[in-house]
Amino acid sequence: MEPTIKIALVGAGMFGGDVHLRAYADLQRFGVAGQLARVGLDKYARELSPVKFDLVAVATRSQKSAEKSAAAFAEWTGHSPKCYSGEEPWHDILRDFPDLDVLAVATPDHLHTQPILAALAKGAHVLTEKPMCLTTQEADQIIEAARAKNRIVGVDMHKRYDPDHLRIRDDIQNRIGAPLYGTAYLEEPLEVSTSTFKWVESSDPFSYVGPHWTDLIFSYYKSKPASLTAVGQKKRLVRDGINAYDAVQVRVDFENGMSINFHNNWITPADFEGPVNQGQEIVGADGKVESDQQYRGFRWWNAGGGTRTSNNHFTRDVLRADGTRAYVGYGVDSLTVALVAVSRVKFAGESRDALRTLSGSPATSTTGPRVRSSYGTHPCVEGSRPTPRSRWSRWITRSPT
Ligand SMILES: NC(=O)c1ccc[n+]([C@@H]2O[C@H](COP(=O)([O-])OP(=O)(O)OC[C@H]3O[C@@H](n4cnc5c(N)ncnc54)[C@H](O)[C@@H]3O)[C@@H](O)[C@H]2O)c1
Repeated sequence: MEPTIKIALVGAGMFGGDVHLRAYADLQRFGVAGQLARVGLDKYARELSPVKFDLVAVATRSQKSAEKSAAAFAEWTGHSPKCYSGEEPWHDILRDFPDLDVLAVATPDHLHTQPILAALAKGAHVLTEKPMCLTTQEADQIIEAARAKNRIVGVDMHKRYDPDHLRIRDDIQNRIGAPLYGTAYLEEPLEVSTSTFKWVESSDPFSYVGPHWTDLIFSYYKSKPASLTAVGQKKRLVRDGINAYDAVQVRVDFENGMSINFHNNWITPADFEGPVNQGQEIVGADGKVESDQQYRGFRWWNAGGGTRTSNNHFTRDVLRADGTRAYVGYGVDSLTVALVAVSRVKFAGESRDALRTLSGSPATSTTGPRVRSSYGTHPCVEGSRPTPRSRWSRWITRSPT
């Protein structure tokens, strides 16, 4: 029998229906070998080239959107995944596919833990969108379950694979000396909080995109958050009757003494020139690095279109001779690393521990011990809750979500 990794996708909205679905379509057609040099794993190219990736199921809340996603997948690949829908469709998938290898989770922020735990209980690996979960209790549960079942929980921390960030991790941080302080920001469009997401009252801008940056800083310095303070504001969204934070500012002090301020919002007006505004600055004892991931020097304007920028590094379409388009970029790279890890466990019998430094650093945030871990996600999850909860009753009342 051909070596196969069976994947099911739960959640196919703005992110699952685009980045995951397109990435799995390319894997379905061509396998993973072509993606491997991008993430420093090309030594596995020959070994993994026969591995087939099969998207066996897609699930969303409504049957109609599941069918729409399946139809798009069929158009790209000629293969139609089975459709599921409802409030907890992952149970049906796990029942129908007892040999499922990977449950990919791209449901809203507050709906990650349930499918993750259900998949682990059935012995499937997990590839989840960030944030892995919203509370430390949930994180502990996931970590324990993954350990007990010896399964991987990959968290999609793709900022680690941005070429500029790899340069900082592998080179620039050594030039600028011990890190002192910094800022990292990601400002999302108003459209996501007022129209795309129906679930913003169950999350907040820091929980939504802050994990990217806390994880990224961890990936550079391997230092865990020691304490944090956070403030948030509610002024813009309440105007539209949405009881959610417009913006959150979080200061995290790390064990190595550096202090980083994370600024996140989801109220940037549509007139802004880029899809999102994002960047970081880190001051070290002997220098400084600035990295603007919004304006990378690529900008255009046209009559009626305003001035626009785009990030051609996140994902881009590369035209193939047959008219279809290969989908590559750092947005896909973190999914690739997680699937390589699963393939190594399944076909090479490697242990989760052996995969810790896959791809040059603690890899795609596979789960490990909570406090002692050198993995990125867990210290960040640990650090990102206690202070707000103890300070603001609202954060207490809406948590856990
Ligand atoms: N890695 C990134 O940079 C990135 C970017 C955007 C979003 N995300 C994350 O991806 C996740 C999904 O975000 P999105 O932008 O696609 O949101 P979305 O609201 O556009 O889509 C959510 C999807 O989940 C489905 N869903 C909702 N409730 C469900 C349920 N009970 N059972 C099954 N399916 C259900 C919806 O039908 C929809 O398909 C979020 O956790 C978000 O933070 C990550």
